[in-house]
Amino acid sequence: MLSHKFCIAPMIDYTDRHCRYFFRKLTKKAFLYSEMVVADAIVYGDKDFFLKFNDSEHSVALQIAGSNPKNLSYAAKCGEDYGYDEINFNLGCPSKRVQEGNFGACLMNDLDLVESCLTSMIKSVNIPVTVKCRIGIDEDDPYVVLPIMIERLKKIGIKTIIIHARKAILNGLDPKENREIPPLDYDLVRLIKRKWPDLNLVLNGGVNSIEKAKKELNSNKYDPDGVMMGRAAYIDPFLLTNIDHIFFDEKKRDQTRFDIVKEMIPYIETEISCGVYLNHITRHMLGLFHGVKGAKLWRSYLSENAPKRKNDINVIKEALIKIEEVQKEVV
Ligand SMILES: Cc1cc2nc3c(=O)[nH]c(=O)nc-3n(C[C@H](O)[C@H](O)[C@H](O)COP(=O)(O)O)c2cc1C
Repeated sequence: MLSHKFCIAPMIDYTDRHCRYFFRKLTKKAFLYSEMVVADAIVYGDKDFFLKFNDSEHSVALQIAGSNPKNLSYAAKCGEDYGYDEINFNLGCPSKRVQEGNFGACLMNDLDLVESCLTSMIKSVNIPVTVKCRIGIDEDDPYVVLPIMIERLKKIGIKTIIIHARKAILNGLDPKENREIPPLDYDLVRLIKRKWPDLNLVLNGGVNSIEKAKKELNSNKYDPDGVMMGRAAYIDPFLLTNIDHIFFDEKKRDQTRFDIVKEMIPYIETEISCGVYLNHITRHMLGLFHGVKGAKLWRSYLSENAPKRKNDINVIKEALIKIEEVQKEVV
């Protein structure tokens, strides 16, 4: 089984293939997740658009949402054919649009349907099918509903479960609030690990620093097998350069932020030559200088110029020169 010790969360509009390519320059070992893709979009839409990715992204999972077992199994098979390492089923998204389609977190209310969806996906592929869920929804008592669900998932052969350790409130909170307001309950995740030690369990929600990740993986014998980081990795991607060393015993990397940008340039040039707009890639790199001198200049130069000069790689080279100059200034 591929290691889930450190995963980077699926984030819609964020973790597209360009973002994942960029993350891969920062860590070779973290397990990457695609944005949520609705199964029907794969069935009826442009498969290359939804599924194509760069070989260097491995290990990478495709996250699928839906509630039609037939379409889900077809979408999972397409994911396998495109080369993804894992299919992850979304049982955590609380948005209204997703509820209208009867998928995401609201499915935690209908375990029979969850079972049919997962069983049909498992049957159609030879790669692992995993789940990302909440600890419960609305009025649920998570200490009752979560173990019931996990028991059933285990019975049908699910071995890896990523738990976003807070409830989803489907009526009354929007997706952003649903990532902040319902309290986190890491104890429940540890309780699940204690009940099912053979389960490959990944803790998600509020893991916002390397220190926190280390702590959650090393506090007692019921620790999760892995952590999944979302927002913090996007806001301050350079922190990912510590992962391979800290969590996977790899040699410490001495890459600088400048090295990372330089390593991205050939990829950006190739993508531009295929018709991709510069800002579709650079938008994921805005946080690279987070917390260091020149961060604001880097961000504003790219945000202002990349959307206007869509095919011009010089924008990024100019931004790099500007930030080099600022960093050389003696205060
Ligand atoms: C902009 C954004 C988009 C998200 N999109 C998805 C998604 O497509 N699928 C999913 O399972 N979770 C999605 N999430 C939730 C994250 O995967 C994660 O569960 C959540 O942000 C909590 O982790 P964090 O505290 O480390 O950010 C999204 C979160 C954000 C901030």
